[in-house]
Amino acid sequence: MDKILLEAIALTKAFDGNTVLSGVDLKVHAGEVHAIVGENGAGKSTLIKTLAGVHRPDKGQLRINGVETTLRSPRDAIARGVVVIHQELSLAPHLSAEENIFLGHFPRTKSGFVDRRRMREHTGELLRRLSIDIDPKRPVGELSIAQQQMVEIAKAISFEAKVLILDEPTAVLDEAMVATLFTLIGRLKADGIGVVFISHHLEEIFRIADTVTVLRDGSRTGLNTVSSIDQEWLVAKMIGRDFPVHKASARKFGSPALEVNRLSVRGSFEDVSFLARQGEIVGLAGLVGAGRTEVAKAIVGITRPTSGEIRVFGEVVRPRNPKAAARLGISYVSEDRKSLGLLPNRPVLENATISGLARFRKFGFLNRSLERKYVGNAVKRLDVRPSGIDTEIRTLSGGNQQKVLIGRALAVEPRILIFDEPTRGVDIGAKSEIYTLIDELVRSGMCVILISSEMEEILRLADRIVVLRRGRVATTLSRDEASENTIMRAAALAD
Ligand SMILES: Nc1ncnc2c1ncn2[C@@H]1O[C@H](COP(=O)(O)OP(=O)(O)OP(=O)(O)O)[C@@H](O)[C@H]1O
Ligand SMILES: [Mg+2]
Repeated sequence: MDKILLEAIALTKAFDGNTVLSGVDLKVHAGEVHAIVGENGAGKSTLIKTLAGVHRPDKGQLRINGVETTLRSPRDAIARGVVVIHQELSLAPHLSAEENIFLGHFPRTKSGFVDRRRMREHTGELLRRLSIDIDPKRPVGELSIAQQQMVEIAKAISFEAKVLILDEPTAVLDEAMVATLFTLIGRLKADGIGVVFISHHLEEIFRIADTVTVLRDGSRTGLNTVSSIDQEWLVAKMIGRDFPVHKASARKFGSPALEVNRLSVRGSFEDVSFLARQGEIVGLAGLVGAGRTEVAKAIVGITRPTSGEIRVFGEVVRPRNPKAAARLGISYVSEDRKSLGLLPNRPVLENATISGLARFRKFGFLNRSLERKYVGNAVKRLDVRPSGIDTEIRTLSGGNQQKVLIGRALAVEPRILIFDEPTRGVDIGAKSEIYTLIDELVRSGMCVILISSEMEEILRLADRIVVLRRGRVATTLSRDEASENTIMRAAALAD
């Protein structure tokens, strides 16, 4: 592990006068897994993007294989063996998995045409290696985000990287897929590849990383071998302050808020029933692909149920789209920030209120000051950083974008809130704030449906847990019956 593949020396980067990285050093050795941790907005993705040729550093040096290098573009970085999987997925949704994987480096026949047969063979091989069970010819836009993430990983591997950089790859994966990814990383390591890995799940750092770099406000506050540190050390270097730990006490439930009776959407799930009351959090657990998001989408009218019924406070409803669902008091925070959520080039303000505008209208006129006040408060409440509500949302870090989307869902004052992976990409401090917020919301009578791949999150928050397996309810567990073990068994058991 002595050969240094990639070295960044005193990288500094500012955006519009705001310093985001100041004098950061990073060394990546052959056969090393190097984790980067830090709060939302600490500068992790920006550091990665400077290593990937996306951003040019204002100051500092980059050495690849000991040679000083200036990267002019991501292509430049790839040509030197530095391949990055970014936090926001970047596949072309209308192209198939195999086309995405080989986009930019298609195998060619002697006469220069794309060699489809070889492409198919290579793809098959890669997908098998990654244990991804998908149809490589299907447009990736139709795959779940977890599957898309795995396709991104297959793509990165197809470039034969020397240094592979993964920005929060596990945020969208379930436990089984994380295990597959980690096995793969282990193999890459053994092949002498240097892996850089970002995650907010600190336990993952202890599972696979050899070395860890901690960033805080754009500076490196820690560098250590993982075997000589513990979680407390990490948190102290990351945050440098205490954060509240959420403990839920018993809650009281009111009348049935959302009833789902034998709901089916042909081809994605069947016969799903559950009941959620006011003041209750019902968790939907299961592996990726079990149908949790599909159920949510059918409830809010993104897809059409083929049979079954949905009742909201006793009334049968059939919302035709999320807007209609919002009018019925149902709000949905999507797991897919990019395609269903954000308007990247619009300010935080607009992103936070787009679906809740009615609330800020009086006699048909938009009350701008009321709207600004609401969003200003929400931003403070959710600790969005930076807190300016006129900044374009694309310039916020991933975790901070997520917080704005939560604010948006709350702006419609829902009675039923469906959270799909609400803390995806959110750091541990902000996560605990979001847990407190959810607890307060249900205590004030809201009904919450929580979809989460994070076992700890479900166990901590949910009053009841509906476990889905292959599009059907495998079991429903009370808070007392639920444990990591009972959930996993129900979720993964062979039928
Ligand atoms: N293109 C940009 N223009 C302006 N500011 C930016 C831009 N990209 C990032 N920033 C700012 O740089 C800071 C660091 O962002 P970065 O995305 O690197 O954080 P991060 O550590 O990856 O956070 P997260 O855990 O939320 O993904 C943030 O304050 C962000 O708002
Ligand atoms: Mg990031």
